Amino acid sequence: MNDTTYRWWQSGIIYQIYPRSYQDSNADGIGDLRGIRRRLDYLRSLGVDAIWLSPIYPSPMHDFGYDVADYRDVDPRFGTLDEMERLIDEMHARGLKLILDLVPNHSSSDHPFFVESRSRRDNPKRDWYIWRDPAPDGGPPNNWLSFFGGPAWTYDESSGQYYLHQFVTQQPELNYRNPEVLAWMLDNMRFWLDRGVDGFRVDVIWLMMKDPAFRDEPEDPDWDGVNPHNRLKHLYTADLPEVHELIRQMRATLDAYDDRVMIGEIYLPNDRLMTYYGEALDETHMPYNFQLIDAPWQAQTVKRLVEQYEADLLEGAWPNWVLGNHDQHRMASRVGAAQARVANMLLLTLRGTPTSYYGEEIGMVDGEIPPEFVQDPPAVNQPEIAHIVGRDPERTPMQWNSTANAGFSPSGATTWLPVAADYSERNVAQQEQEPTSMLQLYRTLTRLRRAESALSVGDYMAVDAELPTELYAYRRQGQGGDDDFLVVLNFGGAAHTVDLSREGQRATIAVATSLQRWGAVALAALTVGPNEGLLLRLAAVHQ
Ligand code: GLC
Repeated sequence: MNDTTYRWWQSGIIYQIYPRSYQDSNADGIGDLRGIRRRLDYLRSLGVDAIWLSPIYPSPMHDFGYDVADYRDVDPRFGTLDEMERLIDEMHARGLKLILDLVPNHSSSDHPFFVESRSRRDNPKRDWYIWRDPAPDGGPPNNWLSFFGGPAWTYDESSGQYYLHQFVTQQPELNYRNPEVLAWMLDNMRFWLDRGVDGFRVDVIWLMMKDPAFRDEPEDPDWDGVNPHNRLKHLYTADLPEVHELIRQMRATLDAYDDRVMIGEIYLPNDRLMTYYGEALDETHMPYNFQLIDAPWQAQTVKRLVEQYEADLLEGAWPNWVLGNHDQHRMASRVGAAQARVANMLLLTLRGTPTSYYGEEIGMVDGEIPPEFVQDPPAVNQPEIAHIVGRDPERTPMQWNSTANAGFSPSGATTWLPVAADYSERNVAQQEQEPTSMLQLYRTLTRLRRAESALSVGDYMAVDAELPTELYAYRRQGQGGDDDFLVVLNFGGAAHTVDLSREGQRATIAVATSLQRWGAVALAALTVGPNEGLLLRLAAVHQ
């Protein structure tokens, strides 16, 4: 592979750590930076290139760190700024990059600027947040809704106005129509870029601008009646054209540094998502692509969306794929245990940067959260739909071994969320011992992806063959004489024998999801087992 052509965030693999849940080093039941530092050799052994850390800033934790009270420090529960610098250095020494979560849309209500802003109407920081007079009836200024239940407005008695928050009440939204706010946020970015962080995953970047006229949002006639936030069409709180200028300025700030990355969290359909690369590719390097999370797990659906995404990408825009994150039910729970290996093979063989969520490498499933342990605000606020909107289940502690607390916290400590029930059978230590475990599969796939240009940066090519509907096959093309690969994924529970001879006569199994099949196969009659994925090496054609 030509390393000068592809940046690390293109050829590499990103691994997301939710710091509260990865490794507790001081027995307080909450993960921390020192704990992560202890696990760097493990991270290295996974074959990932970059770690994205969910927020580590000082926070009252109403939204577990996505409510930031100081953008330039570390919460004492997680460590200190010195500990952070040490983590950055030790990661860099191992060739790992560090991506921080930047949360520019809102701060914590404990942030000193919001405390000032709410103190008086004529405070200079008043206009840094979004304040509006009550409606004539004294109610909220318009019908905007919080993602976490209820109105997006909270009344402040002392100053007689409402402030906007699309998440919890304690997450007031910053006003990016005031240029001082962006200038300050760019300084916050520089603070971390100067300390060597390799980039940012930018939280809810598509929400940063709101309608200046504060118009009511229309009802969505297609609402399914489940999540009240989806009752409205978010025409005036999301994806406003003005947001792109903000993003360009953020990107320019980042580009003043060498080789950093900016990834945007954006939940939008493809046509809108693509605009976040920027017309001149001058916005986010990668707008996160969440389609594998949202789509039904069926071969034909996944094939269609992969090929549509490939077709929709702008010239020069780099693709990416995500199976799970701290806001979504776990991949292994969504697709089922039998398909979790196929899902990992898909993620690690598609064209585009993969992002894995911690625990996906061992097939962690959603934890059961007894009602008295429920902590996530959308679940607390909306108990009737907690099982749908609650995010605690996907945030349970990392399962390291079969000792009490799964090796996340010392036994005797009380973990902030209960460890998932299956930890004694599903954990890193056990999968290290087992030659055919999911962990070994994950490492085998990352090793091959790193070694083979076809897999890390090669083109995606559709496979044109009559296949049973449960199968999805595609080809990755090697660069400059490197081998091609053929991926054949069985999304169903029946075996199939198929003719893929148009792709070549013979191939070798480079990786089977079972880790139990190897060797040469004839493509004219290729058998794919139930729930099996095969990654096949096709010998390079030398002209
Ligand atoms: C993003 C985060 C989510 C958080 C929300 C508000 O969607 O991923 O965890 O609750 O923004 O910051």
